[in-house]
Amino acid sequence: MKALTFQGTQKVSVETVPDPRIEQPTDAIITITSTAICGSDLHLYDVLGAFINKGDILGHEPMGVVVEIGADVKNLAVGDRVVIPFVIACGHCYMCQRGLHTQCETTQNRETESGASLYGYTELYGDVPGGQAEFLRVQLADFNALKVGADLPDERYLFLSDILPTAWQGVQYANVPDGGTLAVLGLGPVGQFASRIGRHLGYRVLGVDPVPERRAMAGRHGIETLDLTDDVLAELRETTDGRGPDSVVDAVGMEAHGNPGAAFAQKAAGLLPDALAKPVMKAAGIDRLAALHLALDAVRRGGTVSLSGVYAGAADPMPMIHMFDKGLTLRMGQCNVQKWRDELVPLVEDPADPLGTEDLTTHAVPLERAPEMYKLFKEKEDGCIKVVLKP
Ligand SMILES: NC(=O)c1ccc[n+]([C@@H]2O[C@H](COP(=O)([O-])OP(=O)(O)OC[C@H]3O[C@@H](n4cnc5c(N)ncnc54)[C@H](O)[C@@H]3O)[C@@H](O)[C@H]2O)c1
Ligand SMILES: [Zn+2]
Ligand SMILES: [Zn+2]
Repeated sequence: MKALTFQGTQKVSVETVPDPRIEQPTDAIITITSTAICGSDLHLYDVLGAFINKGDILGHEPMGVVVEIGADVKNLAVGDRVVIPFVIACGHCYMCQRGLHTQCETTQNRETESGASLYGYTELYGDVPGGQAEFLRVQLADFNALKVGADLPDERYLFLSDILPTAWQGVQYANVPDGGTLAVLGLGPVGQFASRIGRHLGYRVLGVDPVPERRAMAGRHGIETLDLTDDVLAELRETTDGRGPDSVVDAVGMEAHGNPGAAFAQKAAGLLPDALAKPVMKAAGIDRLAALHLALDAVRRGGTVSLSGVYAGAADPMPMIHMFDKGLTLRMGQCNVQKWRDELVPLVEDPADPLGTEDLTTHAVPLERAPEMYKLFKEKEDGCIKVVLKP
């Protein structure tokens, strides 16, 4: 089959690789109809290459049709249309029972001290072949594959694999008081959905992003937008009676704009040979923290900051004095997709499309064009906001 493979920092290519096969009786094989590129893939592309091997298949936002099932698969049949969450969980362990699927004790990666295995997400998370490919081996398929209806287009359901539940969790963790104000930093795909969810739940939403077309898209969904300027902190306070928003979702993560020094260090670590880069990355503060620090500065006293954006530094400097003095709550983590997806299905199936799933994808292209799309998405060229590949 054809698959998008990692070849080195900022180098990916479509290659012919062996078709996946059933390896465990709980597996299923799906043929992929749509598979998206995520902001998390950009971290692999740019910074975390030391943890991926040349030739590894990327991608963790797939959906498709079941073509084969293992002997123990009971809930699925060949021909079922399914969405696959990026997190692989068992559904019955101590953690899964508590809705913490990203910490699943069946698939947890104890050797690397990482949580549950993830598709296409480095040796830290189980080295699992990803979903930017023609076919995917779905593990623990009964629990993980979500069966969906046949009538609506892929784009309605596809984002249940990751960014829609991620944004939902981000807003839930932000603990916004009724009728309160939520600021969303970053209006990429995750920030778009987080801010729309905020509106849907009745909050005032302030969205911050340096990219004009991303602000324009958010504006279409009732979000007040602000450019990322030197004045943005003052503006966020001014428009909230001087206090700051009740809650802030950071939907930016480790590659935030506005940290030139850290950007250089991060780039340098990304370009080191793997054997040198790994210990540096495991011990040092490699994150660009402009967005996180803005979130901590902007949120009102006693408020909550919720991190959807991914961070990976081991010793990032944090403004403890302000965090402590302001009495902040901080929540974060990979999304427990399986916990939230059932409450999102009615929203994506609602004829009115209240979260605007059909107003996010800017580029839907064949898998062959994935390398070009990685660059476009990273550089935010050609108005690119979300890429969906069609294998
Ligand atoms: N927690 C999870 O399970 C999970 C799941 C999916 C994605 N993510 C993470 O969410 C983050 C966003 O993903 P995405 O797909 O929307 O990616 P993206 O890269 O398209 O979005 C990031 C946005 O932040 C903006 N930005 C950059 N610096 C900023 C700053 N200092 N202040 C405000 N905005 C700034 C960029 O212009 C961009 O629009 C990434 O870190 C990704 O890894 C986490
Ligand atoms: Zn993702
Ligand atoms: Zn589990």
